[in-house]
Parts: sequence; C-alpha cells; structure tokens
Amino acid sequence: MNDSNQNRGQWSSSVGFIIACVGSAVGLGNIWKFPYITYENGGGAFFIIYLIAITLVGFPIIISEMVLGRHAKLNTYGTFKELSNNNWFWKLVGLLCIFSAVTILSFYSVVAGWTLDYFFNSLVGNFQSLTFENAGPRFGEFVGNGEKQVLYHTIFMFLTAFIIYRGTKGIEKAVKILMPVLGILVFLIACISFYTYGASDTISFMFNFDFSKITSHGVLEAVGHAFFTLSLGLGVMIVYGSYLPKGFSLVRAGIWITIMDTLIATFSCFMMYPIIFGTQMEVKESAAILFTTLSVQFNALPMGNVIAALFYLLVAFAALSSTISLLEPLVSFIDETYKINRKIGTIIGAVGVWIMGIASALGNGASEFFTSLALMDKLDYFTSNWSLPVGGMLISLFAGFFVSEKAKRDEFTETENKVFFKAWNFTIRFISPLLVLLVILYKIGVF
Ligand code: PFF
Repeated sequence: MNDSNQNRGQWSSSVGFIIACVGSAVGLGNIWKFPYITYENGGGAFFIIYLIAITLVGFPIIISEMVLGRHAKLNTYGTFKELSNNNWFWKLVGLLCIFSAVTILSFYSVVAGWTLDYFFNSLVGNFQSLTFENAGPRFGEFVGNGEKQVLYHTIFMFLTAFIIYRGTKGIEKAVKILMPVLGILVFLIACISFYTYGASDTISFMFNFDFSKITSHGVLEAVGHAFFTLSLGLGVMIVYGSYLPKGFSLVRAGIWITIMDTLIATFSCFMMYPIIFGTQMEVKESAAILFTTLSVQFNALPMGNVIAALFYLLVAFAALSSTISLLEPLVSFIDETYKINRKIGTIIGAVGVWIMGIASALGNGASEFFTSLALMDKLDYFTSNWSLPVGGMLISLFAGFFVSEKAKRDEFTETENKVFFKAWNFTIRFISPLLVLLVILYKIGVF
C-alpha cells in the first residue's frame, strides 16, 4: 500500500491484536444479552443455532473485515474509498459504518456508566439492604437522576478517550490487563453460582437440544446477535486489522476471537442461570436483570457485596474494551482524512460522542423532553436491527465481489490459501449475505 500508510500505529504482537479484538467483541452483549436471549429461546437448541450462525456468518465476516483492513491499511472510510477506486456508493457505506459506531457508542457509554455506579455502591456495601421490592425503584431513581447519569457517561467517555489518546499501544496495554481479569472473574463467579445453587438445571438447560423449541424468530435472532457480539458490520475489525502487520494469520486470529467470545457468553449463562433456576426468579427483557434482580441475588451469596462489586467491575471492563473499539473508527477517520493530529482527533471525536450521549443520559426520566424522545431505545433498535446486518452484508459482498482474488489471497498464508480460501470466498459471496438477507426480509415483514 502507499507510503503514507507505513507509519500508522501497529499492534506489537499477534497476541495483543487478538486480545484487543476479543475486548471489542466481549461486552454487554455477552454478559447481559446472550444469557437472556438464550433463555428466551429455550436454551440448548438455540445455542446450537447460534453456533451455526457464528460459523457461517460471523466468522467469515470477521475474516472479511480484517482482510479489507490489513490490505488497505486505512480507516473504514479510507478502505472502501481506496479499494473501490473512489466509488461514491462504497464511500458512503464507509461513512455509514463510522456513523453507526458513533451512534452505538453514544448510548453504550451511558449503560456502561451504570456499571460504575453499581460497582461503587456494591463495594461500599450500600446494596446489602436491596430487596426485590426496593431494587427496581432504586434503579429507576438512579437512571432518572440527570447529574449522576451525565457524570457516569462523562467518566466512561473520558476513560475511553484516554486509552484511545495513547494510540494502539494504549488499547493493547489496557485490554491485555482487562481481558484476562475479565475471563477469570466470569469463571470464578460461575463457579460460585454453581457451588451455591447447583449445576444440574443449568447444564440440562444449556445442553438439552430440543429443536422443537426453536422458532424461525429464534434462528433469525441468533444471526442478528452474531453481528452484535462479534462487533461486526461497522468496520471495527477493518480498523483493528489495518494496524496488523503482514505475517500474522487472520484465520487464527478469527478463530481465537470467535472462541473466546463464545466462551465468555457461555460462562455468563453459567453465572446467571444457577441463580435464576435456584431461586425461580422471573426473567424479564430489560436492563433489570443486570442492575436490579441480580444485585439482590448477590446478597444471598457468601461475601455477596464483594462478589457483586467484582461482577460490576467486570462488566465495566468488558464495556470499556468495547467502547474503545467503537471510538477508534471515528478517530482514525478524522486523523487520516483531515490530517488532524490523532490526539486532537480523539478529543474532537470524544466530545462529539459525549454530546450525542447526553440525549440518552437524560432520556430515562431526568428530562421530560429527552424521555419523551426515548432515544436510547430507538438508537439501540435501529443500530442492532438495521445498521449491523445491512453493514455486515455489504462488507461481505464488497470483500466477495469487489476485491480482486489476488489481493485477498495475499492476506492468507500458503496453507490457508490451499485449504481455506475457496470455502471462505464462496461463503462471503453467497452464504453469509443470503442468510443476512433473510434476517432483513424477516425484519421488514416479508415472511
Ligand atoms: N460486541 C459488543 C458487545 O457484545 O457488547 C458490542 C459492540 C462493540 C457492537 C463494537 C459493535 C461494535 F462495533
């Protein structure tokens, strides 16, 4: 690629790169959403369908994004611009990807901020008096408190910007510490849950493959979640891949990311299900599981407030490594397109997203106007249901049909070219886009 690309930041090692990608993938989607949707869709059979979706849609598109990014060595917009020879449509797709990342970040940062409040309050023992009766109102009061909402959103955006400010080395160092801590905490809490409430109900639920429980909705939900959980469809992996020197195997990286993300999601189920089954609590679709019901349940565990504090810290870590990846596409775009110093770009980008996020921060009761807009729900719905699948499908088609076979083959090792390339190329041309198209047709009510 051109010389101006040569002095871009680079990951110091393949492990650093893989860890950062895992950090992006693992977040609120794994810890809150996956256990919930798996529970809703009947457990084992959904889990199998999800694994198939990850394999046929998620994994091939991770590789596609990384191939595009490493080949172009540019930000998302620059990648589409360069590889499409300045085609307006693909440049627009690049811009939309960045816009979607920024939009998700604006409300993700607010929710991530809640974990900080729950961490601090658990740590100092304030939640020991929480009961099923007062936990809900406490949560409602908290999200309706404008000062606190803006404060935590500000802290979270500041932490995100601080890590980005220091460049890819900053991302790598932070996530290198955060990720193993996260893995250990999830594992330990799952063990405590199993120990306290027993494992048999959870195991039979997760590994009882009763396919009669699977609906077409469940299949499509599994495909949609594959995008969200692997951070696909926004070009995040394009940007991360662009910092990767030649020689590291993208296939190996993709396998690691997929496996680690799936493991954390599975162990998140192991943290929650024993509590849910052991106490026969009701599972609702809302942030309530993470921030109310679960916080009460922690009180029943030995050293409950310490475990609760660790748990919310873990969720905050997971969210931080995802928010970092959501800001990076914008910063690298500002940096490379307008030749603005990366540090200044970080400040401009972070302040912009921070301002956007105020609408979500004040939209849960703090301000009548913003509450009536319900922006957080709308942005979440729009991005998860539209931007990611459409973005993912376009990225798949772009890599499949608009990038030369030679350019693509260059990004694989010799062995991978022999045994893997053809199957991958066929999948991203036909299978992955077709499956996503089915999701979209379903969403617009065609069937
Ligand atoms: N994958 C993250 C999660 O599961 O919470 C969320 C996310 C991060 C989505 C980055 C999209 C993205 F580009």
